[in-house]
Amino acid sequence: KALVALAQKMPKTELHLHIEGTFEADQMFAIAQRNKVDLKYKTVEELKAAYQFTQLQDFLDLYYQGMSVLLHEVDFYDLTMAYLEKVHSENVVHVEIFFDPQGHLSRGVPFEIQISGIYNALQDAGKKWGMTSKLIMSFLRHLSEESAFETLEQAKPFIKWIDGIGLDSSELGHPPKKFTNVFKACRDLRLKITAHAGEEGPPEYVWQAIDIIKVDRIDHGNRALEDELLIAEIKKRDLTLTVCPLSNLKLCVVTDMKQHPIRSMLELGLNATINSDDPAYFGGYMNDNYTALIEKTGINKEELFQLAKNGISCSWMDKTAKEIHL
Ligand code: ADE
Ligand code: ZN
Repeated sequence: KALVALAQKMPKTELHLHIEGTFEADQMFAIAQRNKVDLKYKTVEELKAAYQFTQLQDFLDLYYQGMSVLLHEVDFYDLTMAYLEKVHSENVVHVEIFFDPQGHLSRGVPFEIQISGIYNALQDAGKKWGMTSKLIMSFLRHLSEESAFETLEQAKPFIKWIDGIGLDSSELGHPPKKFTNVFKACRDLRLKITAHAGEEGPPEYVWQAIDIIKVDRIDHGNRALEDELLIAEIKKRDLTLTVCPLSNLKLCVVTDMKQHPIRSMLELGLNATINSDDPAYFGGYMNDNYTALIEKTGINKEELFQLAKNGISCSWMDKTAKEIHL
């Protein structure tokens, strides 16, 4: 189909991507073997058969198991480079990726090991293909604010490599206001701020992300559509939503891709972008997300262009870099 070919060719950005969520089963088994770590699943097929989720937590349980085979700097490098090669082949020109340091610190993997592997891969992608990138450190919201503060301390020697701070993991029961103080400290360090909000959590959590955490953008934000005043506030503040269609389908945030609200978001004038979240678990990378929207939602060419343009203009690239792409 012509629209699919067009979507594949457009220069795209990825603004919502968890690097640990790009861990393909075959690479996971290869690294497990080289690190002599036992996985609960015996084969790639057995593991992949478990990728059936009815809610966010089902996925997270597998996601934390999967990342547990990452031990050495080269593991983080190989994981990141495999992802970057993949999306380079899909005409992604700029990535802003999350990593979850607490998911590795808790297993005794030092912060420096994690960030060096990821950062060096991002640098190499810049040298090889001119791909640009930002790195976002995420706090796990099911852990305490104290743990987030400890993580921030560990990050300080590497703060020049970190562009932004995020908030992810189990949303329900862990509202943004739980992290008021640590995000204040992050803002004082002049870091950009984003938070997962309104994926499973209610509109109230999106309000908190805006008013208390003072986010520069919102990850997901689907449930903001339930609250007209909130929609108006997001527009007034010109905030971006990093929307993840295949993720929404796999985690039952939407029941059917035909029901995905992306076109309504554009219709409302919201700065929506298309992203892949955890592509190894959710059935596809950037182009697969566009293809699913084209095949199921009746999205048109103008809307596809708008989404790709939003991806550039809503990114954290500097102004001149944006002008080059737009
Ligand atoms: N961690 C990785 N992917 C996530 C998602 N979609 N929501 C919350 N936490 C996550
Ligand atoms: Zn996410």
